[in-house]
Amino acid sequence: MANSSNGNDQQACLDSGFFYVINHGIDKKFMDEVFSQSKKFFSLPMEEKMKLLRNEKNRGYTPVFDEHLDPVNQIHGDYKEGYYIGIEVSEDDPDSQKPFCGPNMWPCVDILPTWRETMEKYHQEALKVARKVSQLIALALELNFDYFDHPEMLGKPIATLRLLHYEDRTSEPDKGIFGAGAHSDFGLITLLATDDIVGLQICKNRDAEPQVWEYVPPLKGAFVVNLGDMLERWSNDIFRSTLHRVLSNGQERYSIAFFVEPNHDCIVKCLPTCQSENNPPKFPPIKCLDYMLQRYKDTHADLNSYK
Ligand code: OGA
Ligand code: NI
Repeated sequence: MANSSNGNDQQACLDSGFFYVINHGIDKKFMDEVFSQSKKFFSLPMEEKMKLLRNEKNRGYTPVFDEHLDPVNQIHGDYKEGYYIGIEVSEDDPDSQKPFCGPNMWPCVDILPTWRETMEKYHQEALKVARKVSQLIALALELNFDYFDHPEMLGKPIATLRLLHYEDRTSEPDKGIFGAGAHSDFGLITLLATDDIVGLQICKNRDAEPQVWEYVPPLKGAFVVNLGDMLERWSNDIFRSTLHRVLSNGQERYSIAFFVEPNHDCIVKCLPTCQSENNPPKFPPIKCLDYMLQRYKDTHADLNSYK
């Protein structure tokens, strides 16, 4: 991946907030292995998966319906199950006290012996790609290339790998049944890897009536990058975070999202290059952690409901 922005990146961010990244340096065979390990996990009996139910740090297994992204248009939650993996922080590290921080939950090595090493390696590699992409975004916003890829922003990010498995239940938008409800992602960017089953749709203009939804064709081995809500706030709405959703076509589908949010105490506020006297900041500054806690609360089941 070249280390420069060429106007095309900027145009992609302006047009749709979605673009593909190819030649990102993660080996294709390794990506296949990550998908294969993901499939193995989701094929385990429910009882085994529920032993790893998401904890209060948002690590672990999320059953079907755990996430409910668009309550206005969905009758149930999303028809997908997932698995959250964050940066591994051991219990004796003071950082482990923070929300979204701490040890991960791992399936038993007797059942899935190479699972942990595969996922940890993927997390590390995806974070490297995300740092590179953040450099392109900084350049496209006329900032120094390391504006985001900087210890104060992405030194200790809340970067979450999320394995996803969509059920074979055909979506019925008229009846409020979706693989994943319409939403925009919360953070800076998301790197999405998919299998070759269609499903992902974007809506370029969320305010249009009626909304127009377009499929994003799957491109195996590539990342679909989408811009998140924090970037929209940073850029004062110049780079919009795009509304997207998943419609299932009756086939099972696997995808792997890598959500990149900055350090817990990073303040997300209008960038110097995105404001002027005639274009003052549209959003008040927010602290990354507070924003994330609120967004998770709004979209995920209360853990007490599983007791
Ligand atoms: C998400 C998401 C899309 C997909 O997890 O936020 O938009 O194709 N996923 O799984
Ligand atoms: Ni999303």
